[in-house]
Amino acid sequence: MKSMKKTLSALVVAAMVAGCSSNTTTSQNSTSKGSAMFSVGVAQLVDHPSLNTIRESMMDEFEQQGYIEGENIMFNYQNAANKTSNLDSIMTGYAADEVNAIVAIATPTALAAQKYSDQIPLVFSAVSDPVDAGLVESIEHPGGNITGTSDEIQVEQIIDMMLMLSPEIKQVGILYNPGEANSVSTVSRFNDYAKTKGLEIMERTGTDNTTMQQAAVDLASQVDAMFSPIDNTVATGMVSLAQIARDAGVPYYVGADSMVETGGFATVGINYESLGRETAKMTIEILKGKSPADIPVKVFKDNLNVYINEDVLNDLKENGKVKVDIPEDLQGQENLILVQSEQ
Ligand code: TRP
Repeated sequence: MKSMKKTLSALVVAAMVAGCSSNTTTSQNSTSKGSAMFSVGVAQLVDHPSLNTIRESMMDEFEQQGYIEGENIMFNYQNAANKTSNLDSIMTGYAADEVNAIVAIATPTALAAQKYSDQIPLVFSAVSDPVDAGLVESIEHPGGNITGTSDEIQVEQIIDMMLMLSPEIKQVGILYNPGEANSVSTVSRFNDYAKTKGLEIMERTGTDNTTMQQAAVDLASQVDAMFSPIDNTVATGMVSLAQIARDAGVPYYVGADSMVETGGFATVGINYESLGRETAKMTIEILKGKSPADIPVKVFKDNLNVYINEDVLNDLKENGKVKVDIPEDLQGQENLILVQSEQ
């Protein structure tokens, strides 16, 4: 029966990008040396630089901690190509294969895995607001069979930086996918703080590359600065969205370093490599028998860097709708990272 189930679940996920379901083992087989063999489902929402960095540093940390693929652990990596229906079949596959834990990268992935969390422990990675998304009861005491790492966006610091780099701005346009819980919660906090600073907000949304680009064109013609939270749909189409803002002479502030590298103007944010490493460490604790309910969510919000794209800065100095510059007191700061566009 077991092998039948495995074949079926392998078929279900066969359409996925970069699938490797043949690697999957059933729960905790023995290795030739007699020690436990774990199997872990690693699911990623979509391919974009930030999520890739998280996954790669996480895999590296597993290895550093002595978890070697094929020796004492099997990873079943699946990528959902940003489709909710793919996420559902990936999770069905993991449940059929009875993996020992699921690692879910990004909020929509974690929400799909949550449905199976009564059977399989879930470690989420880079979920911006796990309480608001309904994954855990609280950061300190997750409660259920779910814990993980969070990249809470520091909107206050981002807005303060916007006003430092481009003090003349009055109207900020926010671009995001309303289907992403991570974005909705960040946008609402952004609105609250922006109002206290006297900024006017205009929101435009998209749900895929095409609608997002249309929304960006509409927004860029009307506002003097733009902002996107760490939205996976925006991040996937970032190169062209950034170009739209650039053509309109609008400084485009974003939520993550990778979005600055792919053409956004600036952000204040965390280093995603450490977040990936921590996700691996938490998963290992759970494989060793600790209950996720007892492991507080690890929120990354300290040691922030300011990331500014120099190419975009030079462009805006010449063609910007508003004056843009790096003030002197920011210039010498250790945590200022100037990046060039990666294309
Ligand atoms: N925090 C996002 C989420 O909750 C995932 C994410 C991590 C992300 N890094 C990013 C999204 C960079 C966009 C850009 O789903």
